[in-house]
Amino acid sequence: MIITIDGPAGTGKSSVTKKVAERLNMIVLDTGALYRAIAYGALTVGIDVNDEAKISALLLTNPLEVVFWEGSFHYFIEDFDTTMYLRTQEVANAASIVSTYDAVRSYLLLVQKKLADKKNVVCEGRDMGTTVFPEAEIKIYLTASSKERAKRRFLELMEQGITRLTLEDLSNDIEERDRRDSTRKNSPLKVPEDAFMIDTTHLTLEQVVDEVIFLVKEESGLHEPHLGYWEHFTHQADVGIRGVGSTPAQAFEQAALALTAIITEPGLITPKTLVSVTAAADTDELLLVDLLNAIIFEMATKNLLFSRFHVTLLPGFLRASLWGEPVNREKHQPAVEIKGATYHILSLKQRDDGLWCAECVVDV
Ligand code: DC
Repeated sequence: MIITIDGPAGTGKSSVTKKVAERLNMIVLDTGALYRAIAYGALTVGIDVNDEAKISALLLTNPLEVVFWEGSFHYFIEDFDTTMYLRTQEVANAASIVSTYDAVRSYLLLVQKKLADKKNVVCEGRDMGTTVFPEAEIKIYLTASSKERAKRRFLELMEQGITRLTLEDLSNDIEERDRRDSTRKNSPLKVPEDAFMIDTTHLTLEQVVDEVIFLVKEESGLHEPHLGYWEHFTHQADVGIRGVGSTPAQAFEQAALALTAIITEPGLITPKTLVSVTAAADTDELLLVDLLNAIIFEMATKNLLFSRFHVTLLPGFLRASLWGEPVNREKHQPAVEIKGATYHILSLKQRDDGLWCAECVVDV
């Protein structure tokens, strides 16, 4: 299986990739390291990385050898293991420059395909889902605001004892790299059409990893089958929504689907964009209202429709991932314009058959 994780620098790609691979017992293919190794090779023999002809000529000697050793890839240039020397800012900037050259990209395209061949890999880079592994089973695209990304790099460098770069330097560097990576003509950084988008700005590493694992399980049918379903009922002139599941969290997820179904057929929604919400309240019923309110709020303010819900319920606290896509009138034919909703007669109960049932009457 191939999972691709693309996105700009500082979105948490490397850490997410490592943790996801660890949890799924897969291998990490860090393709940035390949570009960095070429750049490092050029820097050490004194080739100007801005000289495309010289870099292209360097590749004719096939200088890169990648060896899988003790669970990870090592990058050798002319028999020297460069792996430990690739993480500096100087190498990062040089890698960004050499990565714009056609000769470098086509050389590494073959290297990457060969390295992933017949393996279970999580491939991290810029063009994994678009160019190198368009056939990947699961494609993830991570984003984060450039301010947050600069802050993360700053803290990372501080931890390494590197203090000569200011937050502003790093922010400029990131913006310059983003510009170069997304405007180069060969295989620019862009969102693969069928990728799941996760904005990591306000999420912890663990939350992003959990989300990716959830998606992998959903998409590959690895989740325990559960007996959940949703339905509508009528209560006087209003519509009621009912979600049933093996746990209270699953009942909430099904109730959320029932809410969506008032507006459109959930099957018409391609759930590729993530919105995360949290709520704190004294009772489960109030947490249900908070969840439904958050869904309506996100629909109304971001013009999204959701069809995949992942709810974590703790005493007094709820965290939910809402997966959806922007409203498309032709495709979704929404039955109502969502501006707000009120709820009454709320309940969460365990039925005699052991299943949980979350329900309420909604006025949209
Ligand atoms: O992810 P990173 O910072 O290690 O990547 C270093 C550079 O390599 C980055 O600026 C862009 C380039 N790169 C690329 O063009 N395509 C990839 N698949 C991975 C990295």
